Amino acid sequence: MSINVAIDGPAGAGKSTIAKKLAKELDYIYVDTGAMYRAMALYMIEQKTDIQHMDAVRSACDAITIDIRYSDGEQQVILNGRNVNDFIRTEAVSEMSSKISAIPEVRAKLLSLQRSLAAASNVIMDGRDIGTHVLPNADVKIFLTADAHVRALRRYEEFTAKGINCTLENVEREVIERDERDMNRAIAPLKQAEDAVRVDTSQMNIDEVVNCLRQLILDRI
Ligand code: C5P
Repeated sequence: MSINVAIDGPAGAGKSTIAKKLAKELDYIYVDTGAMYRAMALYMIEQKTDIQHMDAVRSACDAITIDIRYSDGEQQVILNGRNVNDFIRTEAVSEMSSKISAIPEVRAKLLSLQRSLAAASNVIMDGRDIGTHVLPNADVKIFLTADAHVRALRRYEEFTAKGINCTLENVEREVIERDERDMNRAIAPLKQAEDAVRVDTSQMNIDEVVNCLRQLILDRI
């Protein structure tokens, strides 16, 4: 049986940075489920899918194939045969991914892929609904969060380091709007699983969070 670690939480809590480091240390596979929603969003942006119309969304879902590959330990998302990793981190894709992730057909499309990855290997999987829906029997569940302003500041610093032009106010607004949508949707909303350990990283640096989560994981497996 493979070991499954679920890490959920709001945007900018540090899930992917921490999960990636821990997966490398523990020799687990890191599964970034947000990247899968982002790839579906990219397709719908490129195809100008009218997401208000369920028929259009259904046809888009039918036309999409998502595969996951690993290159040097990094997850690569393959959308209809094309590696889209370099195209899914824009603000437009963030916003579209949060909108379409409220649509049941979109979520259903990714669920079996996520579960089959977790069944095949020891994984650290991050997202919004991993502990509550995707892997309800995960060996370890962590809910990683931080104050909204701190999360926005981290995102802002990440963007400016990459040379992306933005303001802290806009980044903070986008983070708050996305969390609101993710928490309030009817299907698989962002919420802490009852048996998850909540870790607030507002006052912690990356090494402190990694040390804390490593201990939580090792204590439970
Ligand atoms: O984690 P990331 O910010 O890349 O996720 C992008 C969007 O995908 C989130 O805002 C959320 O709406 C959606 N998502 C989700 N369920 C997941 C992972 C991501 O609904 N398990």
